[in-house]
Amino acid sequence: EKGGYEHFMLKEIHEQPKAVQDTVGAYVKDGAIDFTEVGLTDETLKNLERIYIVACGSAYHVGMAARYVLEDMVRIPVEVDLASEFRYRNPILVPNSIVIVISQSGETADSLAALRLAKERGIPVLGIVNVVGSSIARESDYILYTYAGPEISVATTKAYSTQLIATYLLAVQAAKVKGTIDDKRYTDLIAEIQTLPGKIQKTLDDKERIQWFASKYANAKDIFFIGRGIDYAISLEGSLKMKEISYIHSEAYAAGELKHGTISLIEDGILVVGVLTQKNLFEKTLSNMVEVKSRGAYLMGLTTYGNYNIEDTADFSVYVPKTEEYFATSLAIIPLQLMGYYVSVAKGLDVDKPRNLAKSVTVE
Ligand code: M6R
Repeated sequence: EKGGYEHFMLKEIHEQPKAVQDTVGAYVKDGAIDFTEVGLTDETLKNLERIYIVACGSAYHVGMAARYVLEDMVRIPVEVDLASEFRYRNPILVPNSIVIVISQSGETADSLAALRLAKERGIPVLGIVNVVGSSIARESDYILYTYAGPEISVATTKAYSTQLIATYLLAVQAAKVKGTIDDKRYTDLIAEIQTLPGKIQKTLDDKERIQWFASKYANAKDIFFIGRGIDYAISLEGSLKMKEISYIHSEAYAAGELKHGTISLIEDGILVVGVLTQKNLFEKTLSNMVEVKSRGAYLMGLTTYGNYNIEDTADFSVYVPKTEEYFATSLAIIPLQLMGYYVSVAKGLDVDKPRNLAKSVTVE
């Protein structure tokens, strides 16, 4: 059942090219996005003035990444909330808005409660859900299924990757109908999304270097992940993967926040992972990496092929293929998933069933 892999997590990591391919294939027909199955019309997208994204855990991290993409591409405000916060803060939901609930299981208690709250207030809900017929899928007004297939490992990988794709497709279609991108850009962005499965595969092919590095750092006590913008969203998920299955304390920080407190934690030998996929933020994050290095941190740099000057600063560098910057999360997350996995294996932990955690959190 594990298809020759030692753990479900490793199997699911390797299923990502297919999961992404299947999700793209479900909604892209002849080079255009088709949301008929979702029930979402161009008319509805055109009238949208605000988007609220609500989710928990990794699905929330998808929302964090999606906000940068949606706001920049579609030019409407996007708010992202943890479901457990949203439901208790009496949120202000404006007309002509939509609430997007992202959930692999479709059964997460707080996410479901957030969905019900939105509906009570008369705001339509778009569910981005993996499990067919789950509660969130049934109660959503629009349903965009991800095609990851069953995910067994508690740590999500392939569902997360397909959720990202769902948000890209939504952004590209909304941008088209709202006229914030032209037809050529629309076609190009879709074509780029279609290259992602191949590029994810290429990233997976480099896994041995990550495995080697992970075994070296398996005894680390703390790991910090830093990045700005989309790279911050990637850092959040990288950090969660690490702590959830390897039990190493890890934190993600918006790189610009380091100086506001966190940098006092940096001491000799602490591992700091810098994520740098966004050109306009590269130098900024790099200078934060220089700062922590001068305080003794050991640096891993995660960037795209071509940015070889990272090696002047980072002690260990990992490269992912180039893609449209909006979609960088899909590639940069792969080495971080592998790192969490291999650290957990090196420590001899129960990778697929980490202590204290359940696959789907159906109680508050
Ligand atoms: O089923 P859901 O997507 O609603 O689950 C949300 C979180 O519980 C989930 O993403 C959790 O954070 C994962 N274990 C992270 O790997």
